[in-house]
Amino acid sequence: MKFFLDTADVDAIRHWNETGLVDGVTTNPSLILKSGRDITEVLKEICDIVQGPVSGEVAATEYDAMLEEGRTLAKIADNICIKLPTTMDGIRACNVLTNEGEMVNMTLCFTANQALLAAKAGATFISPFIGRLDDIGLDGMELIEEIRAIYDNYVYDTEILAASIRTVNHVKDCALAGADVGTMPPSTIEQLVKHPLTDSGLEKFLADWKETGQSI
Ligand code: E4P
Repeated sequence: MKFFLDTADVDAIRHWNETGLVDGVTTNPSLILKSGRDITEVLKEICDIVQGPVSGEVAATEYDAMLEEGRTLAKIADNICIKLPTTMDGIRACNVLTNEGEMVNMTLCFTANQALLAAKAGATFISPFIGRLDDIGLDGMELIEEIRAIYDNYVYDTEILAASIRTVNHVKDCALAGADVGTMPPSTIEQLVKHPLTDSGLEKFLADWKETGQSI
């Protein structure tokens, strides 16, 4: 499963990119607001750091304006992926922009039917928001499983980009369900490697090693 960083924090992206674990980045208007940066400047900087797809989201909701904003974002760098909302205008714009050779990430997906439409429109990525479904008492992971089954039935190339990941269990369950990508905040990637038995085991090994008086 590919890992995308869900942040517009350039320092964090630079840090995590050095681990070799980062395959791309996703941003959205809320993350741009949090960064306090100009969208064009910050996306350009992120695209210079990370080789993989970097999603930048349009603010327009009408088809024509979405196309215009999408084409403007695409000029920032070759690895920009245009993020569009999964509405009918977004689906239409996705069709046009992917035919022009752009990468498109259809966002705010909450149903398997929305994901089916996105695949038919040639989307590069579909972003089901699992955490937000869990927030309202539904099962986000069930949506990932449904989309996986549908995409496999028809051999759609659209990649399932599990978004709104909140926990380490989300990451594991997405991988088990066959999501192609998980986008997660840096704090979640950090937690993936942690286990108290790893820490206590290492502490004991180091103490015993010291007692041997040896060096390597
Ligand atoms: C990423 O593409 C999404 O915008 C993001 O994962 C949404 O996460 P949230 O539901 O935690 O805001």
